[in-house]
Amino acid sequence: MRIAALSDIHGNITALRAVLADIERRGITKIVNLGDTVSGPFDAAGTADLLMQLDIPTVRGNHDRQLFDRPASEMGRWEAWVIDDLADRHIGWLKSFPLTLEVDGVFLCHATPAKDDENWLDYRGPDDRLITRDLPDVAARSGGIKAPIILCGHTHAPRVVRLPNGPMVVNTGSVGCPAYLDIRCEPHFVQQTGAPDARYAVVEFVAGRWQADLIAVPYDPTDMVKLAREKGADSWERAITTGWMA
Ligand SMILES: [Fe+2]
Repeated sequence: MRIAALSDIHGNITALRAVLADIERRGITKIVNLGDTVSGPFDAAGTADLLMQLDIPTVRGNHDRQLFDRPASEMGRWEAWVIDDLADRHIGWLKSFPLTLEVDGVFLCHATPAKDDENWLDYRGPDDRLITRDLPDVAARSGGIKAPIILCGHTHAPRVVRLPNGPMVVNTGSVGCPAYLDIRCEPHFVQQTGAPDARYAVVEFVAGRWQADLIAVPYDPTDMVKLAREKGADSWERAITTGWMA
């Protein structure tokens, strides 16, 4: 059994199409989505329509929730860019996502099993970068899940962790946003994967164990660069053209 796991698409429909083509090329038919689906300066409505048509199991990301849990005037910039582009059918679809799901024995969550907005495998370190968490802190957030494998996203940092006597945890990385800058804190927080590629993961059950491929798909970001420029989203343009932020 092979499952392709997408996360943090953030409205980047060109990256999504590149990933879907790569999944088809590999002959994989089962796809899941781990949330943070449309927020950002790109094509939120187009991305939502494409994914609604595909009808794949999806869990809720913090940025999905933030499109309906507060008035538009209190939304962050990533949501403010897209809220007016989204129709009622899109919002209804975002509201339908559960916090967690289990598909064929594989546990899905956006950030951790308990929260949609907590960094899990990595945390915001003192030097404004993501730092790998130590084992007790990772294990403490695993929520006693009995599934042998947990798929997550949120940090946009692809990583595979195996907990001793516990599940394998796979962070798929981000389909649509390979780097970001958080200017709400000082010094500004930076996450960067170092490549502009669209990231996703394929997990497969082989000889009694789960294994994971962390995949990086190159694509032409020209259309998305145009949209980012229209929104004045300079850092997003840099992210999808270089993968670097600092
Ligand atoms: Fe997130």
